[in-house]
Amino acid sequence: MRIGVLTSGGDCPGLNAVIRSVVHRAVVDHGDEVIGFHDGWKGLLECDYRKLDLEAVSGILARGGTILGSSRVQPAQLRNGVEVAKNHLEELELDAVIPIGGEGTLKAARLLSDGGLPIVGVPKTIDNDIAVTDVTFGFDTAVGVATEALDRLKTTAESHQRVLIVEVMGRHTGWIALNSGMAAGAHAIVVPERPFDITELAERVGARFAQGKKFAIVVVAEGAKPRPGTMEYDEGGKDIYGHERFQGIARELSLQLEQRLGKEARPVILGHVQRGGTPTAYDRVLATRFGWHAVEAVHRGEFGKMTALQGTDIVMAPLAEAVETLKTVPDERYAEAECVL
Ligand code: F6P
Repeated sequence: MRIGVLTSGGDCPGLNAVIRSVVHRAVVDHGDEVIGFHDGWKGLLECDYRKLDLEAVSGILARGGTILGSSRVQPAQLRNGVEVAKNHLEELELDAVIPIGGEGTLKAARLLSDGGLPIVGVPKTIDNDIAVTDVTFGFDTAVGVATEALDRLKTTAESHQRVLIVEVMGRHTGWIALNSGMAAGAHAIVVPERPFDITELAERVGARFAQGKKFAIVVVAEGAKPRPGTMEYDEGGKDIYGHERFQGIARELSLQLEQRLGKEARPVILGHVQRGGTPTAYDRVLATRFGWHAVEAVHRGEFGKMTALQGTDIVMAPLAEAVETLKTVPDERYAEAECVL
């Protein structure tokens, strides 16, 4: 068989591990040929690719980023590109394409699949917000990076008796905020799923100082928003890909908390450091398993699906199901993280 693979959307630790696994399983075990499209869907639409053999994927298991490059494509460009993509698949005599990506990529994968292309998806995102799969690779690495940052920030916050408001990634969901906040023992965790009331948050942090504690750490997901009518906040509109342009919730919270508590407050934005660098062992294993199962699905002709972790098993889940909703932090999980100040 001939298989094409591509990585699309924001990069994520573990992408190279999937590419390597796809090539190993396909080439070594099935005698397939694999090509990699450059820079995501753009490579498929422009027929820009290179051959991926064992040599091409040698030494990339632990490397962050993606050797194929990635990009975002506007939804309209893809809608108009279904026929072009189909023609390129025929020209290249490809039997299947394996796109590795997050919410936007999987929606595009579904679109192309509905248009008749043989697609097997692999979910990725540090945000961990893809439905149907228990976990996405990249998340464990991001939580580790955020937790280490929080541990470090605690000591400097304590030395200066400050409130540090640490902004982590998470556009629509607070999984990174929740898990890193729990792991590091943050004093408040603010997630998009639960719009916050600034007065309640200030009271919560203030209560800690009233107990004689000298510092506080607040973790906030970048997509967190105030409860309507409780605080002025410029939501910033959307970019050309339909993604919200965040205006810096940590900065806003630090201004508010400083004013309300009379304590020095500083925003810290972790940003893309959460996505860079080497994946954890957990993410390498999950990514490798996803790659292996994606190739098996191609050989079974199980198209229009993506790999998913359910419990300890990798299963194939319909793309349609996976892109229907986002996996948000449920109230019960948030309740478990409620910490004692
Ligand atoms: O979707 C993954 C993600 O890392 C989000 O957490 C974040 O909002 C976004 O990508 C950032 O995207 P960009 O790399 O385009 O700034």
